[in-house]
Amino acid sequence: MSRAAKAAPVDELDEKAAKAELKHLAEVISHHDRLYYEKDAPEISDADYDALRLRNEAIEKRFPHLVRADSPSRRVGAAPATGFAKVTHAKPMLSLDNAFDDEDVRAFFQSVRNFFRRKEDLERVDPATIDVAAEPKIDGLSCSLRYERGALVLGATRGDGVTGEDITANVKTLDTVPHRLKGRAWPDHIEIRGEVYMEHAGFFALNAERERAGEPVFANPRNAAAGSLRQLDSAVTATRPLKFFAYAWGEASRSFAATHFEALDQFRHWGFSVNKLSRLCRGVEAVLEFHREMAARRAELPYDIDGVVYKVNDLDLQERLGFAARAPRWAIAHKFPAQQAQTLLKEIIVQVGRQGSLTPVAVLEPITVGGVVVQRATLHNEDEIARKDIRQGDTVIIQRAGDVIPQVVGVVKERRPRGSKPYVFPHKCPICGSLAVREPGEAVRRCTGGLICAAQAVERLRHFVSRDALDIEGLGEKHIAEFWEDKLIKTPAGIFRLDYAAIAEREGWGEQSAAKLREAIEARRTIALERFIYALGIPQVGQQTAKLLARHYRSFRRWRQAMREAQDREGEAWRELNDIHGIGEDTATDIAGFFAEKHNLALLDDLLEEVTVTDYEGARAPAHSPLVGKTIVFTGTLTSMSRSEAKARAEALGANVSASVSGKTDYLVVGADAGSKAEKAKALGVKTMSEEEWLALVQGD
Ligand code: IVH
Repeated sequence: MSRAAKAAPVDELDEKAAKAELKHLAEVISHHDRLYYEKDAPEISDADYDALRLRNEAIEKRFPHLVRADSPSRRVGAAPATGFAKVTHAKPMLSLDNAFDDEDVRAFFQSVRNFFRRKEDLERVDPATIDVAAEPKIDGLSCSLRYERGALVLGATRGDGVTGEDITANVKTLDTVPHRLKGRAWPDHIEIRGEVYMEHAGFFALNAERERAGEPVFANPRNAAAGSLRQLDSAVTATRPLKFFAYAWGEASRSFAATHFEALDQFRHWGFSVNKLSRLCRGVEAVLEFHREMAARRAELPYDIDGVVYKVNDLDLQERLGFAARAPRWAIAHKFPAQQAQTLLKEIIVQVGRQGSLTPVAVLEPITVGGVVVQRATLHNEDEIARKDIRQGDTVIIQRAGDVIPQVVGVVKERRPRGSKPYVFPHKCPICGSLAVREPGEAVRRCTGGLICAAQAVERLRHFVSRDALDIEGLGEKHIAEFWEDKLIKTPAGIFRLDYAAIAEREGWGEQSAAKLREAIEARRTIALERFIYALGIPQVGQQTAKLLARHYRSFRRWRQAMREAQDREGEAWRELNDIHGIGEDTATDIAGFFAEKHNLALLDDLLEEVTVTDYEGARAPAHSPLVGKTIVFTGTLTSMSRSEAKARAEALGANVSASVSGKTDYLVVGADAGSKAEKAKALGVKTMSEEEWLALVQGD
């Protein structure tokens, strides 16, 4: 039963009665919100709930000065959180590959074209005529909104793409985030994805306010949006001028559109804002025209864009193209050219990295490039400095492209001070004084101090505990350096053997902080294989490669065994490592090289006394898939799909695709004109499948 239904007409209310009723409505609506969103147990019908909100709005409209701080119309979320809970996205939130010029874009459309084989498919993906949704690329932060039965139940940041942070209370404060979807045509549950951003006007007003209050200002609208969205107190977020554009989706309980453009239309009907500049383009020339147009209009838009995004419009094609490791094969971001500025290079300093590489860095007179204050820029290596003849005291040209670290692209020679001397790159490590050598054919000079070099030891430990590795909260970069200095930690395993009594006694610590740190460290004794591999800091093994390795070898034990066998460059294990799609010979050499070092093996043994590494979980593969964990090889020409599509399908079903047949191969799929692989499979007793059998298998899912 609705209270609102029985109440007096709004225009008969006096101020006192209005005030009392607004207070009551704030309590009642918040109560029903909690029942609905948190307990999933609503007590009133949707219509009655809507009536309460309408009544509240009507009274506020008549008495605007009575609007309460906790008014439901202000959409302030739940009470302040104490931290953000981690949430796993039902479907990972991927990134986009980048194109920097027209040629990259043409290559992208050609790769889409080459993915297909059948005549009727080829007609739909001809680069000259393919249907593409082109959208501005908003420079904000991506966010996923989960709706169940039309109600917003979860808002999450992208995080590492697999796991994000629960920011439900915060996103609920955005006017452009509907709490309930309009209409009826939505799937029972769906993750709506898009960008949270701040417009220029709001950004400048916010910074002005902060300046008055003596608070630090934000460097750009994107930082301001990120800082505002990740507030622990959603009441603070509510005061920030954040907006949301919907442009994609994750899990959906059923399909709701045949094309991307139709999906955007649906989003509009459900109450989202969708960028009006988005355009359906036919063919590559039309998208390039869109890019030129947006670049010209960029400066007059009320928000920052850093490029445009192209998406294959047909959802059936999208589905078949699927995803590569990092990004979808059906979309690409076409970036705008970098922005440049001139400033004084005050000094060249040399930093020492995790692997001992000496990296020159330019210390600059601070300057704003494309809205961001730049104080340092990379100089890459000694040859770059020599080639561009960059000297201390020079006026230099700085360039920034999107998120990329600023670079020094050149020197303004006319402004060079008299008597300046060419820069001489040091041959000794600036940190530990050991000799720094450059191997023939290498661009970088490396410190030979190994783990006696504080910079290397500390950088490795920092990497080990960093967010995408062990993710130990409360053990910051500063602490690592201090603990290392005072010999409290020497090795990764040492992190798990900290003397907390000694830490409690340190300045600025105490029992409580030490206990908290202990808790954070203890929580990380069990670690997923891909994180563990990444944490080891093997040269060239970033998150992506770590994931490829984890996915291929599945358990630490198997990986380690295989890497030992891979020391034999003639053997099968070495070939298998090189066969993993996405791992080149250089990377394979570094990975095997890591296992060739005795001290690395000792480090691993020591570490495994302290931590448990869990097996790779078959990520997105459906549980019933007959291909989970199987190794599959394709040979010969397939008529129904290209090799890339076949590979993508197999991987989506949880299989590892390998290039050559070995004793570890589970299936060989044989197309037309197959050669020696089929014979080898026969000799090894590997099960073979015809193209028809393969199709039946993948289409049966
Ligand atoms: S689509 C699987 N569309 O750009 C595809 N992304 O560089 C998901 N972005 O993480 C992304 N505007 O934060 C898409 N119209 C747009 C976008 C957009 C901005 C951001 C997004 C994404 C990043 C990738």
